[in-house]
Amino acid sequence: MRVDILTVFPEMVSGAIGHSILKRAQESGLVEIVVHDIRDFAHDRHRSTDDEPFGGGPGMVMKLAPLFEAVEHVRGLAVSEGESPLVVLTSPQGRKLDQAYARRLAELPWLVIICGHYEGVDERVRERLVDEELSIGDYVLTGGELPALVILDTVARLVPGVLGGEESAAQDSFSDGLLEHPHYTRPAEFRGWSAPEVLLSGHHAEIAKWRRRESLKRTFLRRPDLLETASLTEEDKTELDKIRSEIEERVTSNE
Ligand SMILES: C[S@@+](CC[C@H](N)C(=O)[O-])C[C@H]1O[C@@H](n2cnc3c(N)ncnc32)[C@H](O)[C@@H]1O
Repeated sequence: MRVDILTVFPEMVSGAIGHSILKRAQESGLVEIVVHDIRDFAHDRHRSTDDEPFGGGPGMVMKLAPLFEAVEHVRGLAVSEGESPLVVLTSPQGRKLDQAYARRLAELPWLVIICGHYEGVDERVRERLVDEELSIGDYVLTGGELPALVILDTVARLVPGVLGGEESAAQDSFSDGLLEHPHYTRPAEFRGWSAPEVLLSGHHAEIAKWRRRESLKRTFLRRPDLLETASLTEEDKTELDKIRSEIEERVTSNE
């Protein structure tokens, strides 16, 4: 997969992609990440990429010409004819990123991510240049660099082969519609707090059962909304009924 990131703060992005999984993904050749400075596509003396909003008001707006030129330049880097990227604009007004959509993005061969800044971009960029606007949540950041990195990290770890064991992505929260079970590591006992006995038993079937139960319990307690769409087996549903009555019992005995 190839990801091109367009930003007026390239150092913010290049600093972050040289570590951990993103570094490994690039070294293994599975993900190619190219950072572009939008200022390279501004032609005035000051290399300006923003201007005052028409109609007045606070803040600056990102100009459309440098963004169009930057995306056209990137499109021209296609290795084969007809190859075309999905162009994404980071925006708090966009579709909210979730694991299911990240999985779809990870199947694409080529992604371009535009980082907005200031008050955002000239509306014609949204209308004429961008295929999708993506938000990372209902809050407003100063710029699109951190959202672009969030999108990149979420997607890159889903590209087959990027994570060591394919299993770790498959078991992550949201992958099967549930939150993941808790984790423990050595020491088995710390200040009198023990890790669950079953995890030390070596009994794989029992461990898998415990983990599934904890995953159901955690989802029920923290994100019950996810249970409405999660794919649950008959065994899961029975387990959930048990969890629900155990918790109700605990609540009534505390009253
Ligand atoms: C200060 S914000 C602009 C917000 C804009 N005035 C509005 O109210 O919708 C500047 C840039 O940061 C990025 N950004 C801010 N919050 C974001 C979010 N939640 N998700 C994705 N991008 C975001 C976008 O690229 C946006 O253009």
